[in-house]
Amino acid sequence: MSEPFDAVDVIAIKRDGEVLQDEHIDWVIDAYTRGVVTDYQMSALAMAIFLNGMTRHEIARWTDAMIRSGERMDFSGLPRPTSDKHSTGGVGDKITLSLAPLVASFGVAVPQLSGRGLGHTGGTLDKLEAIPGWRANLSNEEVYRQLGTGSGAVICAAGAGLAPADKKLYALRDATATVACVPLIASSIMSKKIAEGTGSLVLDVKVGSGAFMKTLDKARELARTMVDLGTDAGTNTVALLTDMSVPLGLTVGNALEVRESVEVLAGGGPDDVVELTVALAREMLAAAGQPDADPAAALRDGRAMDVWRTMIAEQGGDPDAPLPQAAYTEDVLAEADGILQDLDALAVGVASWRLGAGRARKEDPVQAGAGVEIFARPGDKVVRGQKLLRLHTDEPERFARARESLADTLHISDAPVEPRSSVVLERIAGK
Ligand code: URA
Repeated sequence: MSEPFDAVDVIAIKRDGEVLQDEHIDWVIDAYTRGVVTDYQMSALAMAIFLNGMTRHEIARWTDAMIRSGERMDFSGLPRPTSDKHSTGGVGDKITLSLAPLVASFGVAVPQLSGRGLGHTGGTLDKLEAIPGWRANLSNEEVYRQLGTGSGAVICAAGAGLAPADKKLYALRDATATVACVPLIASSIMSKKIAEGTGSLVLDVKVGSGAFMKTLDKARELARTMVDLGTDAGTNTVALLTDMSVPLGLTVGNALEVRESVEVLAGGGPDDVVELTVALAREMLAAAGQPDADPAAALRDGRAMDVWRTMIAEQGGDPDAPLPQAAYTEDVLAEADGILQDLDALAVGVASWRLGAGRARKEDPVQAGAGVEIFARPGDKVVRGQKLLRLHTDEPERFARARESLADTLHISDAPVEPRSSVVLERIAGK
């Protein structure tokens, strides 16, 4: 088949800072999916986009072309409205685990098609796979059944059919230093979410050292871009900007985070995890037509826990099975008396990853029990020798590298530390 364009010409347009026409974008995404545009050509184009950016129209067209590269799911036939949440990824971000059953307990279906972790941010599927028997891969029929007549919540692997162009491109970006780019992140996330077919979408855009977006301005730009893409595609979309300068909650790691999520579902858990879970649930329920719902009550009275147990069992898991534990632990102790000044999210995320909770390459296995437990947070008074963190791993030779990543955090001095008033920093709605 003869091709209407030459990849070199399309790359040159973006290299020279010009605007790609719709036909260029449609062709390059389609030809890349078919293997006609090569990985090295797409890498060059991704770098040109990284350096020169895209207009709002280019981003929308790029997103649409990626959606059209695969199948679209359609939940409009379900007896329940649908609402989904997407987080841009952080350290200790276990919110999906309690949020999906919580929202489903109000009769709103939650189709959480998730991914695995790469690098220092953990993946929701890796966390749930710590539960004995739990299965991430479901057929489309199983997803529809669980959403329509089952628990109402599904957390599973996104099938290969959704936005296949993005799957190829995301792997390439990971290897070519082109991940942290607003047009590419926004189109990547939103192509999958729009193709998934959720009725409404709440975005949790993380800000701080443990997030892609290190500054509020950058996070705002990403959130606005994604909200506009969703709104323009007819998906009711809103974003919360939330703090990721310290880890979320008191655990980082797979089984450790499942344990903490179950505490939240039992009406307990750390304040920041509960605050964010409730804030996101309110947004999802309001978007699905229930602005007056009280999600905090459903955590307290066990309704959300009931849905969690059903959801885990529907996917083959045993909600009562003991969770795996790492074979070895080592404590990180306070080196002085005083006030803990910092607990850097990136440093803790890298430590957890090096302990075996995360993977460096897509095909690497993860350890279910590995990770970090947190015993003190910035602003806490500590005494010399007190336990600040507990490191968990199955391979004790990993402790040294994990400790290295903590070398520039956990400072202690007499200076007072302003407590964080809220994990939610800002809300961005569709125009
Ligand atoms: N998550 C995605 O799915 N895509 C990105 O580009 C970044 C985070």
